[in-house]
Formats: sequence, structure tokens, C-alpha cells
Amino acid sequence: MSLLAERLAPRIVEEDGAFRTRMLGIAAGRTDLIALGRGDPDFHTPAHIVQAAKDALDDNKHHYTGPTGIQPLREAIAANLAQRYGLDYGVDEIIVTAGAQEGIMLTMLGLCSPGDEVLITSPRFTTYDTAVRLCGGTPIPVPTFEDDDFALDVAEIEKRVTPRTRAFVLVSPNNPTGAVTPPEAIRAIADLARRRDLLVVADEIYGRMIYEPNEHLSIATLPGMRERTVTLNGLSKTYSMTGWRVGYLGAPADFVAKMVEARHTLSINSSSISQYAAVAALTGPQEPIDAMIAEYAARRAWLMPALTEAGFTYGHPGGAFYIYTNVSSTGLPAPDFCERLLEETGVMLFPGTMFGDESTDYIRISYLQPLPLIEEAMGRIADFVQRAGSA
Ligand SMILES: Cc1ncc(COP(=O)(O)O)c(C=O)c1O
Repeated sequence: MSLLAERLAPRIVEEDGAFRTRMLGIAAGRTDLIALGRGDPDFHTPAHIVQAAKDALDDNKHHYTGPTGIQPLREAIAANLAQRYGLDYGVDEIIVTAGAQEGIMLTMLGLCSPGDEVLITSPRFTTYDTAVRLCGGTPIPVPTFEDDDFALDVAEIEKRVTPRTRAFVLVSPNNPTGAVTPPEAIRAIADLARRRDLLVVADEIYGRMIYEPNEHLSIATLPGMRERTVTLNGLSKTYSMTGWRVGYLGAPADFVAKMVEARHTLSINSSSISQYAAVAALTGPQEPIDAMIAEYAARRAWLMPALTEAGFTYGHPGGAFYIYTNVSSTGLPAPDFCERLLEETGVMLFPGTMFGDESTDYIRISYLQPLPLIEEAMGRIADFVQRAGSA
């Protein structure tokens, strides 16, 4: 072992990446791969947003920006949050980050101290675990269940509150389940947060991908919640801009002011070019974005009955672009199911165990391929299941 590896700070917890590496190795050798594993939209970024980035380049926007982001973008974000979700953040209450990912780390740096416990909707986007651990805290999963369509139950949260609990991370719609926490549950969570004096981190990155009749409610709009909530969001998913690295957080001005130095230390600013593109995304025509969301809705509508027909059950996903599917009927634990499926059919999916799920019953399907490819993938999956069943 090198001296550096030997002297690794104890906060760095080694991830077992063997499974992912093996999957990527198998996938790399295939010409017929259909990847339904990643959370990265298959659409290109809409042309008017790309054009705004080209204009910014030509206009010599090549330099550092302020650490909280360029003024027109902070204005556009504040206006967008007000208009879409009724959130009341001033321009000085917004920090632009390098993706919501950096917003997560920044928020935990601001809120989580060694010894703190942070409750997290689960199965979950495990970046939260890592961020909490890097800050010396302990992530505490709050389980959700297929029978409830993976909806959060406030009693499950309350059961886990201890004197060390600092915050609750509410991800709605959730990754990997697509579950939308309904407004009445959000109100109950707000009530709990006020009663037990919890802070809330509301990750609303999938907030615009909500399928009828589900409804999104931003918890920071509820009485007494603004002062105890950090709202996280970003452009990656909605605008198909994952590579551009633009996210943001909304929080009270005095908290934002105290976080500027930490934000500066992480990456100084999100890419200047990307920030100008983000202004165009938020203030420009929304038709291309509505069209992408309509296409996700159509894929979801096709895929749900197709999964049922293939013998699977799942939690009904109210939002995002994922279906968290139960493959226990095949008799294969989810990691084996995914590995064999990839090897034998070229369809790549990821098991729920990659999302902190202790159960090996689930896989996450992200419907981020054109419908004909999704249909082709479902055909291969159905054949595979039949073969696995008769083996
Ligand atoms: C729930 C959730 N939050 C945050 C992120 C990070 O997104 P980005 O850093 O691209 O904005 C993701 C990405 O998959 C996510 O699923």
C-alpha cells in the first residue's frame, strides 16, 4: 500500500465499487447495449440553451463569477421558484452550485457536525450518505415500502428521531423509486419538523416531473418551514443538462451569507458559460422542456403495464423517470438479475442495493431511451425472465 493510501483520513469510507466496475466491463464489450440504468436524460440540451452558451463564449464570459453565481441567474432562479412552487426566496437567498451534487455537500457542511444524525428517505440517492459521513455525521435511512408505492410515512420518520437528529432529507419525487410524497404527508412532516425542532433539506430536483394526478408541494412554503429548510434543485434533469453542472440552493439570507466562504472553497463558482446557458434555460421558451416531460410520461405509461405483463410488481411512481421494480418473482437476487440480464441480453439496469436498499428484491429502471428501444429492452427482459423461470 502506498504511504498516501495508508494515511487516508478516516472520513474517507471506501465504497465497494466491484459490482459497478464488473457491470461496466460487461457493457463495454457489447454492441447491442440498451442502457436503462443511469439517471441521465437521453435528450440533447435544447438548442436555444446551447446557443446561449455559444454566445457567452463569443462574448468572452471566460472568467470567474462571484461564488453565489451571476446576478441574472440568481434572479431567474428566484423568479422560477416563486412562479412554479410558490417559494419565496430573494436573490440574496440563492447560491448557484456545480450541480445539485455540490449543493448537497455544501448543505451538509453547513448543517451537519460530527455526531449528528441525518434522516434520509430510503431507498435513496446515496450521495447523501457520503456527504453526511464526510461531515462526521451518521446517515439514518427512513424506509419506504412497495405496498405504499414507496410513499413516506411520517411515523417511520418520527420513530427514528433521537436527541442527536439534526435534519431530515426529503427527496420528492425520489430517486430511485419515483415516489412523490403527497401534500398531506408533506404537511405532517412539516408538523413533525416544527414539533421536534428538525431542520429539513428538501431535494426537489425532479419537482417538475410529476405525473397526474400527483402533486408537488414545496415544504418551505408551509408556515414556519422557510427558516428551517434548505431547498435544493438544479437544471441537470429538467433541462437535460447533466454535463453542464448547474444546481442551486435556496435558504434564508443570513445562512447563505455564512455559506459563501465554504462555497468559494469547494469550486469558487459553477462554470461561467453554463451559468449563462442556465439563464436561457429558465427564462427562454419552455416548449422543448414540456415536450421532453410529455415524452417521459408516454414512456412511463407504456412501461408500467408492460412490466406487469412480464410478471413484475412495482411501486407506482408519481414522478421522476424511474420505476422501482420488484424482480423477486424470478428467484434471482437483484444484483444477480442485473448481471445475468446484461450478460445474456445486453440490457443494463441497476439493483436497488446500489441505492442503499437492504432488500435484494428491486431494480431501478430509468426510462431514458427512445420508446422503440425501451420496447426492445422489455422484449429481451421478458425472454430472459421466461428462460430464468424454466431453468
Ligand atoms: C435526488 C438527486 N439529487 C441530486 C442529484 C445530483 O444532480 P446534479 O448534481 O446533476 O444536479 C441527483 C442525480 O442523480 C439526484 O438523483
